[in-house]
Amino acid sequence: MNEACHIVIFGGLGDLAMRKLFPALFRLMARGHLPSSGLIVGVSPEGISSGDFRTLIRNNLIEHLGAETSGFDETIWQEFAKKLCYVAMDGSAPESFQNLSRKLDSDSVPRPLIVYLATEPLLFGVICANLRAANLVDSRSRLVLEKPLGMDLPSSMQIHNQVAQVFTERQIYRIDHYLGKETVQNLIAVRFGNALFEPLWNATAIDHVQITVAEKVGVANRYRYYEKVGALRDMVQNHLLQLLCLVAMEPPSSLDAQAVRDEKVKVIRSLRPIERHEINRCSVRGQYMRGQVDGLSVSGYLDEGCGEASSNAETFVALRVEIENWRWAGVPFYLRTGKRLPHRYSEIVIQFKQLPHSIFDDMQARSPNPNKLIIRLQPEESIQLMIMNKQPGLDEQMLLSPVSLNLSLTEAFHLDHTPLAHERLLLDVLRDNQTLFVRRDEVEAAWSWVDKIQDGWQKLDQRAIPYPAGSWGPLEARDLIARDGRSWHDS
Ligand code: BG6
Repeated sequence: MNEACHIVIFGGLGDLAMRKLFPALFRLMARGHLPSSGLIVGVSPEGISSGDFRTLIRNNLIEHLGAETSGFDETIWQEFAKKLCYVAMDGSAPESFQNLSRKLDSDSVPRPLIVYLATEPLLFGVICANLRAANLVDSRSRLVLEKPLGMDLPSSMQIHNQVAQVFTERQIYRIDHYLGKETVQNLIAVRFGNALFEPLWNATAIDHVQITVAEKVGVANRYRYYEKVGALRDMVQNHLLQLLCLVAMEPPSSLDAQAVRDEKVKVIRSLRPIERHEINRCSVRGQYMRGQVDGLSVSGYLDEGCGEASSNAETFVALRVEIENWRWAGVPFYLRTGKRLPHRYSEIVIQFKQLPHSIFDDMQARSPNPNKLIIRLQPEESIQLMIMNKQPGLDEQMLLSPVSLNLSLTEAFHLDHTPLAHERLLLDVLRDNQTLFVRRDEVEAAWSWVDKIQDGWQKLDQRAIPYPAGSWGPLEARDLIARDGRSWHDS
């Protein structure tokens, strides 16, 4: 059992807290990972009572967990509810921190404090300063930060500097929820737990890598946010680069946080900057228009902006990326993410090279690059290895066909409930394990690489190319990879 801590969630009535954090904490309680002592305090400016707060959380849990096999359970709720309380306060007003202190003091034992900032990043610095002024921070305290951690390198550094005045790096947990996904962690297991792949995991055997994070949803009520941010900052700077790091990093000496994060940051620093003159060749930005997803008509990005006449925010990005080191020299990584695409899935495709010579007459014509490792991260979790086989039959010539060796993780492990990303990450905060959290230097190296692209787009006045909702993005994304004689895995 983990040590009992107080968990304080700023933004305690917000969307993230309701959809992800409280369900994750409830599940941790159900699995016996959350001690019955220690408070869970929701903090927000709205003046509601702790009783109303509990009712809100209960309804929310029923809504989000009710339908699941290991979902809402009344007995666990009774235990969970005893920990829950609410403090109405303004995180930017120092005087209101007395309310929080009083609430925490009401527990007879002083406990380590975990502060989760699920608020606007603008408030991170002031909340931290107020926590310190109220004497709520000590060496055992931990701070959890959610993205966006800035809009670019300078704003990110500003947030980190403010937070660093109160918490040391060892106390800070920066969440990228992709790292909490079971299948993303499985990438580490597949790469470093099998003797099979590692000798082939380099430029000698691999032709290229594709990383796709495709979403069916649009931006909906996050139009204002997307106007400021766009898909490059919202998805590539964090989730896609983290996936790239796990695919490309050198074997860490252990699973220790420092060892893993040292290797990841080396990858980000080895990314070849996309210079202005390469922007057109190496990047595509798009924005969805009206179209059809799953046979239903859906609005375009601009329609979600309540009558805006024009916008240049991108909802789709495709990039051709190179990693300048020995392992990956000459192996392009193609990254792609977008909203309102035909399917929701995240996938990594490792495309192996051609055979040096084929003894089968029709093979090169049928499948010039036969071997592929396809790692599906979501919605279903699977690993497929495409290998060539003889087509059964009495043909004079030996005919080959690609066949996939399929491993469904859900079936293999009889999973009826995969841990939620935030469940895993919150548990690691309780365990004080930072391996799956992003270090400051990683975030800053990622911004510095992404800023260059953003700057190139701006200087060249690159417009987001319209694409119909339900398509695979602008045709230019197909051209980006086709120029190298390759194609996206879905086409
Ligand atoms: C978030 C982005 O970080 O990740 C969203 O802000 C995106 O725009 C979401 O929709 C995707 O996460 P998941 O877990 O649904 O793939």
